[in-house]
Amino acid sequence: MDDGPRGRFIVIEGIDGSGTTLQTRAVGDWLTARGHRVLETREPSTGAIGALARQRLSVQTAAAPLTLALLFAADRLDHIASEVTPALAAGAVVVSDRYLMSSLAYQALDCDPAWVREINRHAPLPDLTLVLDVPADVAFNRAQRRTAGGGSVAERFDALDLQRRLADHYRRLHGDPGLGPMVVVDGDRPPEAVTDALAQALLRAGL
Ligand code: TMP
Repeated sequence: MDDGPRGRFIVIEGIDGSGTTLQTRAVGDWLTARGHRVLETREPSTGAIGALARQRLSVQTAAAPLTLALLFAADRLDHIASEVTPALAAGAVVVSDRYLMSSLAYQALDCDPAWVREINRHAPLPDLTLVLDVPADVAFNRAQRRTAGGGSVAERFDALDLQRRLADHYRRLHGDPGLGPMVVVDGDRPPEAVTDALAQALLRAGL
């Protein structure tokens, strides 16, 4: 991005049930405790396009795959412009629950992966992507417990075979130079152990 004082843009990624939301919060708390100004955020974002993307993810009102891919890409640029860039310019560390890697993994299930990259060409790369690597069946059982516990709507990607393909897509993207600096962490451990591993990665990145 441009010159001047600038924070850092950190992204947490993984398949559904890998713990991205919990770890985004934990990493945000850890950074705050170390004295950083922090913005915790997520994609789909809380903006108007993000809300639309989430609505069109639900099985009841699902959008066609190409439409969904365009909605996520549009939400990403809107999220960058309205939340991420201003926070970075103010010197904050931005921690996003999902970003570009999610589109490359999820939308590539039904769309041409090269096209998904192309429509995301203007999304700036994060300073660091932290990937939670969790076996598909472990993550799927966690996500199912959450849905069964209420408060969640069935979404387009809630099926074990899809989650297995997704886990495979994520693994193929490990270390992809088109995604910027990346650290993959074993997410199949107690949450505190995962947070410790993420904190070590952030320390190594100078945070
Ligand atoms: P979550 O809030 O549980 O992470 O749900 C968001 C869902 O949206 C999840 O199934 C992943 C999916 N998604 C995409 O398919 N593409 C994207 O670019 C993003 C950000 C999320």
